[in-house]
Amino acid sequence: MRNPQLNKHGELQHLLTLDGLPREVIIGILDHAAPFTEVAEREVKKLPLLRGKSIFNLFFENSTRTRTTFEIAAKRLSADVVNLNVSTSSTAKGESLLDTIDNLCAMHADMFVVRHSASGAPVLIAQHLQATGRDHIHVVNAGDGRHAHPTQGLLDMYTIRHYKRDFTQLSIAIVGDILHSRVARSQIAALTTLGVPDLRVVAPKTLLPTAIENLGVRTFTDMREGLRGVDVVMMLRLQNERMTGALLPTPQEYYKVWGLTPEKLALAKPDAIVMHPGPLNRGIEIDSAVADGTQSVILPQVTFGIAVRMAVMSMLAGQ
Ligand code: NCD
Repeated sequence: MRNPQLNKHGELQHLLTLDGLPREVIIGILDHAAPFTEVAEREVKKLPLLRGKSIFNLFFENSTRTRTTFEIAAKRLSADVVNLNVSTSSTAKGESLLDTIDNLCAMHADMFVVRHSASGAPVLIAQHLQATGRDHIHVVNAGDGRHAHPTQGLLDMYTIRHYKRDFTQLSIAIVGDILHSRVARSQIAALTTLGVPDLRVVAPKTLLPTAIENLGVRTFTDMREGLRGVDVVMMLRLQNERMTGALLPTPQEYYKVWGLTPEKLALAKPDAIVMHPGPLNRGIEIDSAVADGTQSVILPQVTFGIAVRMAVMSMLAGQ
């Protein structure tokens, strides 16, 4: 079956998930992003690839990095960007998501960048556009519930490739709240597609989804064992807002066992890099000495995120 994100020519129509996205499409996006990193160094940080296009940022959930980097990326491509303030928009008055979409389509939107607390919201919008014959409008998932965060996954792949080159030689540990993390799901999808031979998820049992091994990862419930000899440590934030019930002891106890300290990081390879999608909870999942240390690539991730989002948007809607 054809991947629903690809059109009949095998080109990206929407970016909804990294699950099932072919290796050559992922590599194509990373390759496409590379020259965009240089645009930021220029005096005039602009390219005309999306001139005249209208992009709507619809963030139904909080965000700093993702929303602003999408906005900067769209502006660097010369698009017109509209940020909908959802808390003061008509959805707050009871308008349905699809009614909001129809109204923005009536304003000749070319692309929706959507973040939503409900898993599946961007897919629903893409299906609605298709069912109503508006195939020319593109949807980019900027994080939906626990499901997927494909541009975060892609910027993480860009970062790993930048520092480590060959995915097929790497040991990688994803550490922390896997259960509630859309980021982890997108990372696992991409890393397995790109052929990482040793992919580990490292977490307390209560924060591991059941049957996660079926995704092609090894599970570790001892952080020290999970970190031993890895090339890349990908930390995750504790998603307190998604937790129901008592899955964990206190934050202090979590930090003691699961916080990435310099002493635990020393178990990874000496040249291992440390990543985190942000926002950081210092003193909970990561020690400041690590977050600000020489092995941390957390801020470069943010910078690469702009180039990757420029690549995605220009591949979807560029002339
Ligand atoms: C992530 C998100 O919102 O899913 N952050 C991000 O996009 N940079 C991860 C998180 O919230 O912990």
